[in-house]
Amino acid sequence: MGLVIAANWKMHKTTADTVEFCRAILQDEDKFAGVEVLICPPYTSLPAAANILGGSSLKLGAQDLHWEQEGAFTGEIAGPMLADLGVEYVIVGHSERRHVMGEDDSRISAKVKAALECGLKPILCVGETEAQREAGYTNSVIRKQLLAALEGMAAGDMDKVVIAYEPVWAIGTGKAAQPGDADAACSYIREVIEKDVGAGKADKVRIQYGGSVKEGNIGSFVELSSIQGALVGGASLKADTFSALIQAARKAVQS
Ligand code: PGA
Repeated sequence: MGLVIAANWKMHKTTADTVEFCRAILQDEDKFAGVEVLICPPYTSLPAAANILGGSSLKLGAQDLHWEQEGAFTGEIAGPMLADLGVEYVIVGHSERRHVMGEDDSRISAKVKAALECGLKPILCVGETEAQREAGYTNSVIRKQLLAALEGMAAGDMDKVVIAYEPVWAIGTGKAAQPGDADAACSYIREVIEKDVGAGKADKVRIQYGGSVKEGNIGSFVELSSIQGALVGGASLKADTFSALIQAARKAVQS
């Protein structure tokens, strides 16, 4: 399985900033061979990013979607609207959605299904808070989040799903997980998918690590056989930094 590295810009960048970034990152496109690179800008920047990245190997992702295909949901964006713009991936259940916006597992489950229904590939985020880790609940939290979101998933859909293991305490803190801890969590994720979601599905799923990933530490994650990429926040905001990170990942898996 090849690496999948996604830039999660969160609530950053205007259209002009997006145009500048996309033009700059495309200069290095030939240095990303073999790595699937996704840019997930805010909704407002999706058309501009689609325009510039269209025809390149870089792909477009959205940061969220609504669980219905359309309806009276003021302020929301539905999957078909994203697909229409050329969006291929969508982040679902990011910890900021879970913990700041109060999304629960049932909403996240409905969003995973909605994404697949309109041909989008969900990047399902799971991960424990610091208190949960300290109390020894890491695996049980991850398991509950996975089962709620993936229950009843058709085997054919599983290879479209990417899981991002993002310990909440590592996001935006500069304090990445120890590779050994990330390895244990990502191996456990694959085990849960294999045993409890359905036999034969786990080997199809790519698992990313996310949380304070940067050029200097990406290699220590992607060289683990349990991890096939990263979901990157802060270090994805500058084209040169993000390009260096992708190249470092590529080098780590080649060596
Ligand atoms: P970070 O964010 O890389 O800034 O820690 C990761 C994320 O929230 O996906």
